[in-house]
Amino acid sequence: MRIGVPKEVFAGERRVATAPEVVEKLIKLGFSVTVETGAGDAANFSDDAFRAAGAVVAANAEGIWAECDIVFKVRAPNLDEVAQMRAGQTLISFIWPAQNPELMQQLAAKKATVLAIDSLPRTLSRAQKMDALTSMAGISGYRAVIEAANAFGRFFNGQITAAGKVPPAKVFIAGAGVAGLAAIGTAANLGAIVRANDTRAEVADQVVSLGGEFVKVDYEEEGSGGGGYAKVMSEGFQQAQREMYAKQAREVDIIITTALIPGKPAPKLISAEMVKSMKPGSVIVDMAGEQGGNCELTEPGQAVVRHGVTIIGYTDLPSRLAKQASTLYANNLFRVAEELCKSKDGVIDVNMEDEAIRGLTVIKDGAITWPPPALKLPAAAPAGAKPAMAVVPQPKGHGHGGGEPMAAGTLAIVFGVAAVLFALVGAYAPASFLGHFTVFVLACFIGYMVIWNVTPALHTPLMSVTNAISSIIAIGALVQIAPPLLAGGATGDRPDELIRWLAVVGIGLTSINMFGGFAVTRRMLAMFRK
Ligand code: NAI
Repeated sequence: MRIGVPKEVFAGERRVATAPEVVEKLIKLGFSVTVETGAGDAANFSDDAFRAAGAVVAANAEGIWAECDIVFKVRAPNLDEVAQMRAGQTLISFIWPAQNPELMQQLAAKKATVLAIDSLPRTLSRAQKMDALTSMAGISGYRAVIEAANAFGRFFNGQITAAGKVPPAKVFIAGAGVAGLAAIGTAANLGAIVRANDTRAEVADQVVSLGGEFVKVDYEEEGSGGGGYAKVMSEGFQQAQREMYAKQAREVDIIITTALIPGKPAPKLISAEMVKSMKPGSVIVDMAGEQGGNCELTEPGQAVVRHGVTIIGYTDLPSRLAKQASTLYANNLFRVAEELCKSKDGVIDVNMEDEAIRGLTVIKDGAITWPPPALKLPAAAPAGAKPAMAVVPQPKGHGHGGGEPMAAGTLAIVFGVAAVLFALVGAYAPASFLGHFTVFVLACFIGYMVIWNVTPALHTPLMSVTNAISSIIAIGALVQIAPPLLAGGATGDRPDELIRWLAVVGIGLTSINMFGGFAVTRRMLAMFRK
């Protein structure tokens, strides 16, 4: 089948739905690819790069809409584009079916099959590789910080120079979802003091692991609405939150707002009064402009100055990093193509039994299939576990950092098998072996219990320190090269030269492990200190 990629027609849109490196992968899957001339220009992908990757470059979009079996796009098509579609075509792009009922009717009239990338069930961990909302939000969080830095008149990091001392910038992030976490990581890497707040308390660990400080609202209420999203909070909570935000507004230099409750207008978190109380030259980046804004004074799509504060309400942040955004988006669409074409023969099968594909498919052969039925699988996994572009730890269960708790039945089977093995070893192995074996099994058990409860963000430092401790092997080697007295034997028991030299080499190697382990741990832990 032929995949077509037209140039985006939405004003100011710089992204393109595929990239040359992804074209090669699509061709390996058995597809042929046509790209409209100039489609990748704004994202720095030339026609020649697409040709070199094996794509055909078409002179205009008409041919693509008229001839290709599948069309990849970024923005939902406008009504002109729908008019050019050939009957029965498959379209994969952002659609936002709830907000675009008229578009849905027009696409259905074309007997199209439409996969809306925004309707992917994000709670399925298998679907994460296709999750364009997450990849775009990660880019946007990063770009929001860059926009803030551009409008801010000072350094982010503190400096002591001959010309004077510069304090670090203070950044407050409202909402620590995908975009918020990416913003926290970026601002912390630039050296700012970063604080963040979210109604879902479970994200606090992630904020801290990215270098931020989690600022709590002084009011007890659980903010998780399930599936990794927030719920609307009580009036009491909102009042307490307003007080805390007002205090932050007086203290910080930059506020980045990313608060969102799906399907609801953006919560108004920053009032005109709070803007007024900020220091002159401060910056607010309001990412929720398209949903009405988290700040009362935001003008969607614009950067305005109010009370001496620059308020940036750009709604095209991913497009401002067009090459990066196009590459990630193209990879998300490639993963969708891979799921649709399991036989790798360039022919797609829209399998409505597959939960990810079912969620994505909003129109099948002209019949509107949106909204999809509720997922059969429990949607517990992404309670704060939506992957961000930054390195984000992914907690998978309450109180257990390392993974899903084992079911009671499985645990009983594991213990049963272990007991039988132990009895067999006890019956047949020499007595001295049994002692060592018991210590080994207990060590494994204690190690497992210790590591299981450690936050994933701390796994790397923990592994490096256990590496260092495991160098207890050095003691064995020392015993080998030590005088016989220490070795506990008679004079005639001295180990031969070869063993002594092997022990020396062993000590050398294990020292690297030991000192390296402690050094890496120190460096890793330093990353968590502010
Ligand atoms: P998300 O759903 O992952 O994160 C939103 C976070 O806000 C959640 O963690 C939620 O718990 C939190 N939240 C909700 N109500 C809150 C409240 N009252 N106080 C504090 N926190 C609250 O969403 P994601 O993907 O991170 O997107 C964030 C925003 O950025 C959305 O509004 C999205 O539409 C927007 N966006 C804007 C772009 C642009 O170009 N301006 C591009 C991409 C996303």
